[in-house]
Amino acid sequence: MKSSFPSTTLFSARTDGIGRAATIGLVSPLLEVRNLTVEFVTTQGNVTAVRDVSFQIAPGEVLGLVGESGSGKSVSALAILRLLPPQARIHGNIQFRGEDLLTRPEPEMRHIRGAGISMIFQEPMTALNPVMRVGDQIAEAVLAHAGSAAGSKELKQKQIPRGLKSARDDKNIGLNGAPEGAPLQNELDAGLKARFTRTPNSPHEKVTKAEAWRLAVEALRTVAIADPDRRARDYPHQLSGGQRQRVMIAMAVVNRPSLLIADEPTTALDVTIQAQVLDLLSELRVKFSLAMLFISHDLAVVSQVSHRIGVMYAGSLVEMGTAQEVFCRPAHPYTRGLLHSVPTLRTERGQPLQTIEGTVPAITGLPPGCAFEPRCSWRIASCSIELPPLVEVAPGHLARCPVVSAEVR
Ligand SMILES: Nc1ncnc2c1ncn2[C@@H]1O[C@H](COP(=O)(O)OP(=O)(O)OP(=O)(O)O)[C@@H](O)[C@H]1O
Ligand code: SF4
Ligand SMILES: [Mg+2]
Repeated sequence: MKSSFPSTTLFSARTDGIGRAATIGLVSPLLEVRNLTVEFVTTQGNVTAVRDVSFQIAPGEVLGLVGESGSGKSVSALAILRLLPPQARIHGNIQFRGEDLLTRPEPEMRHIRGAGISMIFQEPMTALNPVMRVGDQIAEAVLAHAGSAAGSKELKQKQIPRGLKSARDDKNIGLNGAPEGAPLQNELDAGLKARFTRTPNSPHEKVTKAEAWRLAVEALRTVAIADPDRRARDYPHQLSGGQRQRVMIAMAVVNRPSLLIADEPTTALDVTIQAQVLDLLSELRVKFSLAMLFISHDLAVVSQVSHRIGVMYAGSLVEMGTAQEVFCRPAHPYTRGLLHSVPTLRTERGQPLQTIEGTVPAITGLPPGCAFEPRCSWRIASCSIELPPLVEVAPGHLARCPVVSAEVR
């Protein structure tokens, strides 16, 4: 029985036109998350929201992350960008382009956010500033990374959505422990800026406010907002939900990142607009050679855009494999239950829909063993003793269940 996460599951993704893998090849990972664990210090004690999560994303690849509400998808994503609140304790290793993000000084992280990795947040209405024109918000993202005089610390700070603040910002500590704004800090800051913003496509090394506005309008045009010159002057409340989501996407891609984290980008949208936004993301992925971490609780949505899929349950990854393997040959009992719960054209009318009995355990009371054990019809005595490891059940296909792993092979 092979254990742990194999380093050979790295795929160079090429699209077949609808954003799914057509060919694969071995390449170095763009993002590598190893043994990520996130705990929150609360008044009731420490709670573990993410447990020992490992995955990799290759350049141009889309990794879909699915799981029920509270399974740790957003916390994992925010940990990558170090946007969790100060009470979060992050353990593990997160490498982006071979550099450890967890030990990067905060000024360097500010350059990585947006220019290297950008994020579409789960709730566009709360992530956008309600009292600022959307064009200004996108232009601000340009200026924050552009080396212009307008790219001040104040602007850069605003890149972090309201309500989110990194722990290091609170301490006001910069590189090498120097206070923010110290001369040494500024010099290093400029060097880091050059290192992380000069991507091959980067359109803006030094821009004026007027140029940033022009780029913002251009970004709105790229995400298919009609009449972008006029809409750039609108405030978020003047836009529909779908348009707001497009603004968020424009802001996320305007600095040409190589990795986009899309956290439930279509959840608040109706089915037609959802399909349009998914098409747009697929187009942008191809146009800008973007890799994506696509987060959703909706298996159907994830299956449309992902090359590989990770299934999360109660803070752990319980299954990981190519989209085809996970959908056609699901291994973990939870994934099997999820897929059985989705009605299909063959589902008999009048029959009750299949469900997974029971509920997800609270993170304050996770059992020491497999968190799915109370709901699992495959369970055996040893399941409740310790968290099973992820084991390979087929090449590149992992499941955290020794019982089905033995059965599958
Ligand atoms: N600041 C915090 N303090 C304590 N617990 C937190 C904090 N932020 C998140 N959590 C907990 O971490 C767990 C994972 O939350 P997370 O937001 O990652 O879920 P999710 O999978 O994204 O769910 P959803 O699909 O609803 O967005 C939840 O139980 C949540 O209550
Ligand atoms: S480890 Fe045991 S309880 Fe958990 S999914 Fe597998 S069979 Fe079920
Ligand atoms: Mg979430």
